Amino acid sequence: MTSQTPTTRDDADRVLIFDTTMRDGEQSPGATMTLDEKLQIAALLDEMGVDIVEAGFPIASDGDFEAVTEISKVLQNAVTCGLARASKGDIERAWAALQHARKPRIHTFIGTSPLHRQHQLSMSREQVLDKIRETVTFARSLCDDVQWSPMDATRTEEDYLVETVALAVECGATTINIPDTVGYTAPRESAALIAMLHEKVPGLADCVVATHCHNDLGMATANALAAVEAGARQIECTINGLGERAGNTALEEVVMAMKVRRDILPYRTGIDTTKIMRASRLVSTVSGFPVQPNKAIVGKNAFAHESGIHQDGMLKNAETFEIMRPEDVGLTESNLVMGKHSGRAAFKDKLGQLGYDLGDNAFQEAFVRFKALADSKKEVYDDDIVAVIEDTQTTAAHGRMRLVSLGMVCGTEGPATATLAMEIDGQGHRHETTGNGPVDATFNAIKALVDHTARLKLYQVHAVTDGTDAQAEVSVRLEEDGKIVMGNAADADTLVASARAYINALNKLMVRRQKTAPAPVEAAE
Ligand code: KIV
Ligand code: ZN
Repeated sequence: MTSQTPTTRDDADRVLIFDTTMRDGEQSPGATMTLDEKLQIAALLDEMGVDIVEAGFPIASDGDFEAVTEISKVLQNAVTCGLARASKGDIERAWAALQHARKPRIHTFIGTSPLHRQHQLSMSREQVLDKIRETVTFARSLCDDVQWSPMDATRTEEDYLVETVALAVECGATTINIPDTVGYTAPRESAALIAMLHEKVPGLADCVVATHCHNDLGMATANALAAVEAGARQIECTINGLGERAGNTALEEVVMAMKVRRDILPYRTGIDTTKIMRASRLVSTVSGFPVQPNKAIVGKNAFAHESGIHQDGMLKNAETFEIMRPEDVGLTESNLVMGKHSGRAAFKDKLGQLGYDLGDNAFQEAFVRFKALADSKKEVYDDDIVAVIEDTQTTAAHGRMRLVSLGMVCGTEGPATATLAMEIDGQGHRHETTGNGPVDATFNAIKALVDHTARLKLYQVHAVTDGTDAQAEVSVRLEEDGKIVMGNAADADTLVASARAYINALNKLMVRRQKTAPAPVEAAE
């Protein structure tokens, strides 16, 4: 199988966008995604023009293997990338998962810093070099598109980093990625490192150089852009900056920075920025990680103007206080949209404006939910519709258990009593129980029907819009044997949303139980 490695050789300004939301992003504790959720994200990333999608780490679990296989069938334009440690077994497994990819890429890595060599790998400099030689050559014998990363590159001795990169290039790597694994570097250093490698590794001119930054000191976006200014032409990033610890470079930030500040950052990406909000909402919903309100580009307040002086300026000329238009990132004004008399055509039109193109079944399900909401809620806003769509998609993605009905007696007299019906693997179950308030009673009823030892770590309710008839968006975080999962749901009834969020989390827990912990990053076979 041959691949078409995206190249910048003919197009000096083009920066490739490598999305690792489903690999590095999913490594965030609690951000487990189901296969269906990953497929939705993959389809959207492809549609928005992401160049390379890192779909998973196939050796880590059967679930990851399946995800890479299925995602590679969905991606029409983007390269599908599978991660592998510096081991032939890992590389073979990644390659097996990529067999259906139109454009496959194997990404293999090994720790190169003294700390990683000594403590993680117990290997000498020479041994690491031998591994690089063996594994990059092997990966290249399978696939034309091979990315190699020296993990913890920013804390690796300069002379040794040069030696390792030169060797990987000599062995056939087509992309060299320079990770700031622990988010330690600063913009000036990030640029200097890329410039130094370009100067000292002659063969590097024939490769794409990538930058992979973590955000521990809040400098990931600045570091990635500085690397681009010094010659990197691939940015590795995640939607909403999702990722372990403080996360990865946020895709929306680097892409919009290059779009808005083209005067000083004269680079282009292939991203359709009007899809950014949709991607942000989808990733937030499926990962269970809410976006902070003041988050750049995608936060709820990113385009909100509160102070009188700002509002006055905005009314006179939006450019007084706005450096980009909300429409550029796919944000439509939260208009009062429709009510119970709105028909299918109007609903479809609204979905189109919000950037959703649903298949027939998904559309029908969303329409039924919208009608039910419009019956119970006087005013239906764009945010309500987005919540319904995201909720429909995540609920559809979780298979084994679902809420059938919930009845409640609660108030000032006595304990609350929940009567709950659920379907588990196609079988109906019913339970009535009490609790210290309605949420406790609901969760107790679910616990009685679904055997588990998970502990509730977070229960959070957020109102989608203003008003007492607002939909409630509920997030539930569960922990079992160190594994963390998040479940979300939205409904006009807070208790129904709570029950569904809890059940969604349990569904994810079932998936997580089948998934072994990601393999430790060590290279010894
Ligand atoms: O941060 C890191 O070093 C990584 C590598 C696997 C590229 O994610
Ligand atoms: Zn990383």
